[in-house]
Amino acid sequence: MIELTVNIPARDPKSYRIAIGAEILHSIWPRVEADFAGPSKFVVTDENLVSAGHLKQLLGERDVPTFVIAPAGEVSKNMDTVVSIIEAMEKAYLGRDTVVVGMGGGTVGDIAGFAASIFKRGVPVIHIPTTTVAQADSAIGGKTGVDSTVSKNAFGAFWHPAAVYLDVATLETLDDRQYRAGLVESVKHAVIADSEYFAFIEKNMQAILLRDRAVLEKIADFNCRIKGNVVEADPHEQNIRRILNYGHTIGHAVESASGYKLLHGEAVAIGMIAAGLIEIEMGVGDPERLERIRAILKKLSLPVELPKDLAENSLIDLIKRDKKAVNKWPKFVLTSQIGQVYCRDGQWAVNVEPRVVERVLRMLQVASS
Ligand code: GLY
Repeated sequence: MIELTVNIPARDPKSYRIAIGAEILHSIWPRVEADFAGPSKFVVTDENLVSAGHLKQLLGERDVPTFVIAPAGEVSKNMDTVVSIIEAMEKAYLGRDTVVVGMGGGTVGDIAGFAASIFKRGVPVIHIPTTTVAQADSAIGGKTGVDSTVSKNAFGAFWHPAAVYLDVATLETLDDRQYRAGLVESVKHAVIADSEYFAFIEKNMQAILLRDRAVLEKIADFNCRIKGNVVEADPHEQNIRRILNYGHTIGHAVESASGYKLLHGEAVAIGMIAAGLIEIEMGVGDPERLERIRAILKKLSLPVELPKDLAENSLIDLIKRDKKAVNKWPKFVLTSQIGQVYCRDGQWAVNVEPRVVERVLRMLQVASS
């Protein structure tokens, strides 16, 4: 088992442990009971985790109050679900001495974390992430939230977990498309922070696709260290945490313009290629670097061109509406080499002229026509 610690310095200092292993699900509950002896526990999961047998593996015969989100997925990521969870906790006579345990993908983690952040003014949350996105990204860093009818994550809070237990064997029940799309966050970490990690992914691609447990544990270790370091440096995204948005500004627009037919990771793959083209247009890029990134994404069978039916105008409009936009235009995270984000005047997200973005989007369309 690999063990790491994340130290959150600001506002409300705290440390939390991340435990990484393979086939450790059955041993997590005794550890939760030992590490959090005293408080009551309340589990939040979804129907996929029940049908995959993971809830049973976690709890065995233990009788722990549990809320199963159904249907699973973004459609349930709303305030109605949060209200139902909180009312279920009240009906179970739970008070402020409760720990919420969220087991599942990014959606479950976001909902469970947000419910924990507001239940009786806030109780701790433990994450047990079970997807490639959640294990690489969303379980670490304390971003929680649910969607409104108007926009994604409209309700939310930074609520750092009390612990994270990560079992790479749970990835074996994930469908192939979700598995591959979620690996984009791992590629992202390598591109922005660690050239050795990038080379590790290149070298071990076949084992990654075969879900080799030892390689997945190593990947989880890289991811948790990289994301943990960024979050320690900037827990509330005032500056350097923005590097985690690499590929995401255009990626979010593509995801939304596709009517969410593209998975988040698939759209971010296109966003990463767009970032590489912007770098070249701005004179800080390198075609060879872009080719290495493109090759990895293609081996993961991820899209590296815009789908034919996406209009450039609608993408530009969506980019203008990015939640980080100031005066209707966001800044962009670019790289200066593999493992290094481009920094200008101490800023990790930089101005890119709209005409440059428009040109790059046209290139991505030309490539796909
Ligand atoms: N997913 C990006 C972040 O946690 O900041």
